[in-house]
Amino acid sequence: MAEGRIPQSFIDDVLLRTDIVDVIDARVKLKRAGKNYSACCPFHQEKTPSFTVNREKQFYYCFGCGASGNALSFLLEHDRLDFIDGLKQLASNVGLSLPETRSSNVPAAPSQQPLYDALEKAAHFYEQQLRTHKQRNSAVTYLKKRGLTGKLAQHFRIGYAPPGWDNLLQTLGLEADQKQLLLQAGLLIHHEERNSFYDALRDRVIFPIRDFRGRVIAFGGRVLGDDKPKYLNSPESTVFHKGRELYGLYEAKQSGKLSRLIVVEGYMDVVALAQHGIHEAVATLGTATSTAHVERMLRVVNDIIFCFDGDDAGRRAAWRALENALPMVGDDVNLRFLFLPEGEDPDSLVRREGADLFRARMQADAITLTELLFTHLSEDLDLSTLEGRSRLASTSLPLIAQMPDSLFRSLVIQSLSERTQLSQDLINSQLMIAASKPKPPTEPQPAPNQASRNETERKSFQRVPSQRPERPRLRTLSAQVIALILRQPELVARWREDMYRGLADEFTPLLLRLRDDISANPQLSLAAILGRWHGTEQGDALATIAATDLLPSHEQPELEVVDIEHQLNLRALQAELDILTEQLRQTPDHQTLQAISACQRKIHTLQQTRRRPTS
Ligand code: UTP
Ligand code: MN
Repeated sequence: MAEGRIPQSFIDDVLLRTDIVDVIDARVKLKRAGKNYSACCPFHQEKTPSFTVNREKQFYYCFGCGASGNALSFLLEHDRLDFIDGLKQLASNVGLSLPETRSSNVPAAPSQQPLYDALEKAAHFYEQQLRTHKQRNSAVTYLKKRGLTGKLAQHFRIGYAPPGWDNLLQTLGLEADQKQLLLQAGLLIHHEERNSFYDALRDRVIFPIRDFRGRVIAFGGRVLGDDKPKYLNSPESTVFHKGRELYGLYEAKQSGKLSRLIVVEGYMDVVALAQHGIHEAVATLGTATSTAHVERMLRVVNDIIFCFDGDDAGRRAAWRALENALPMVGDDVNLRFLFLPEGEDPDSLVRREGADLFRARMQADAITLTELLFTHLSEDLDLSTLEGRSRLASTSLPLIAQMPDSLFRSLVIQSLSERTQLSQDLINSQLMIAASKPKPPTEPQPAPNQASRNETERKSFQRVPSQRPERPRLRTLSAQVIALILRQPELVARWREDMYRGLADEFTPLLLRLRDDISANPQLSLAAILGRWHGTEQGDALATIAATDLLPSHEQPELEVVDIEHQLNLRALQAELDILTEQLRQTPDHQTLQAISACQRKIHTLQQTRRRPTS
């Protein structure tokens, strides 16, 4: 094979510069799940995702079929490429070219390549027009008037679509297949009656929209004056999905290491901020911020500031963003909201105040997600009344229920408890009820009879918290317990059996089997345990868990045990509460009520002993 002739150092270099998340995400839509990403495995048929990608370790693993490897092996497997072609593709993505070894085959072109090529040619055409067209001055003057330099325009590949009906058509669209591609991209329009074609973008400043790899996927075009519509945008296409893409994300990533992103509303806001040295701004493309947007940003940073106008429309947009972001909000995620003075946008503000004041404003005036959540829901409520407090509880519960399990979520619950004076236990049990309902509003109760009661009991006991969206799969409590007892097998002897009874996630069966194995053979070392399970599917899962840092890293490892024990006890009690609550719903009686409050008291006491997270 020719691969022997490619130096290992080159392969290492390519892998070092490649992000496996990008490679896989371009082919299989990934969902962020804590530090990992997950998806339904592309290598076998499945309905629930067991395919996991870890960015830090740059590897992927499927709990279903055991497929695993790095970015290169994924590409080879998935796109069915030979080694050289796969490596070549990865290398060219990161700007490297293969050392000369042999004349190799032309890489298999992905089916979208012609469209990408056509879009790239169009972007180049518009850029050229801004430099050479005889009427270029009107566009150049306009951009200068808005404070942009040539260098910045170049960075964003800003261009100009000159006046006239067929500039693009005559330059790029004369061949039938090219015409077809430009039509597909929305850059040409077909006039049906005359059966002729004309340019969609005319006499406009052009903003190419690039995907996270820098490929041009769409355009926005702004009029030079006050005509309407102010902006024309490319329609959706096979390579452009408005609800997912962010204008400026690629450029922001290019500008250096990012620690946060600023979400603004318009193209001009992004470029004006960059012109003033604030390179981390991105814009949604005339749509509300979606969960997919937030997910995409959280792949790059943990910190996001949303900038909105201070008017009603801005407040509504902020609320939409908050609602859509909730499923993505976990412990190391920091979302804030900045409302600008009325009549200002980031472009006008940064030009008037300069970058330092704009930064200071973000620092001082941006409010946290929880502040926005509670102030918005408390508007017009009198929290000194029972009515006001119960209204706040009932409107915030369905929203909190969308958040993935995390310490942050617990703190939000705590804060709701302080605001409403409802106990955290009660809030938690309401949340469990909310989460076990397919739809948050009311649904008809099943007729309470013995059979259905047993049925619901079993169901509620087995209710897997993963019904919440975006739940990190590898971080299930069972997986963490496995990681811990692999490290300290003596814990198995120490823990009572009923400490496991609140567990009901996908790793629970494996955990219980492991526990039984260790209690039967208490002398086993980690290597011996893994050896006994080697070659089985569960053995692979154990090995992965052992190799993955699932446990939060504590300065003092003994706190880890305390933490996990605490969570186990809490889960066990919550499972009991779950059953009791269901029982009460079916047949309300005094005994069950007493049992519930006893259980709630225990949960409460346990929660009081919990150490506060240090931040
Ligand atoms: P704005 O109307 O706030 O425009 O629209 P802007 O960004 O401040 O534009 P300038 O400063 O006048 O140049 C915000 C965003 O909404 C979308 C665009 O993405 C725009 O950047 N939009 C707006 C359209 O798609 N079409 C329109 O006609 C107007
Ligand atoms: Mn503006």
